[in-house]
Amino acid sequence: KTRLVILISGRGSNMRSIIAAAEQGELNIDIAAVLSNRPDAAGLQFAHDAGISTAVIDHKLFESRESFDKAMAAEIDRYQPDFVILAGFMRILTAEFVDHFAGRLINIHPSLLPKFKGLHTHQRAIEAGEKEHGASVHFVTAELDDGPVILQAKVPVLTDDDADTLAARVLEQEHLLYPAAIKKLVTQQAD
Ligand code: GAR
Repeated sequence: KTRLVILISGRGSNMRSIIAAAEQGELNIDIAAVLSNRPDAAGLQFAHDAGISTAVIDHKLFESRESFDKAMAAEIDRYQPDFVILAGFMRILTAEFVDHFAGRLINIHPSLLPKFKGLHTHQRAIEAGEKEHGASVHFVTAELDDGPVILQAKVPVLTDDDADTLAARVLEQEHLLYPAAIKKLVTQQAD
């Protein structure tokens, strides 16, 4: 089975969609651990209840981005994952961390990359007058929200959308997109 470690910072709804897909046997994956940089991430309890190992590496306890990333990398390495899945993990990662997991580090970003890298993607898409918006699963490279796209999902932007209604429409697609992208990676790995 393909081994995953999932990194979260909060709600963890994308993580839940991956756990659900794994439980339904749709993906030939083993979720080795769920790690969070925030002790209060709601997703931790869900993962724990699903019988998955969890750990917190609290970034506030580290003096630098480098030392936090080193600790996070060491924790991830204990599980020897084939892929490290960022699912609402809201920390910018050092080049050293990204290099260490090169080709194995995957992220979901709530925009049709290369459009709207960074934060507040839904508000920015509305302000830019986009007719279409969505989400992207991509390989992580040292450049923020750059890296080769694995799969994207599109949604329409409606005239009466605000950032919240648009975010909800995108999130619904994210929950289908991330398991589908992981399936693609797992299949390619098996080839
Ligand atoms: C998702 O919409 C994800 O695309 C986004 O945060 C949300 C996390 O929700 N990620 C980013 O903005 C990354 N920069 P979740 O915790 O419920 O999965």
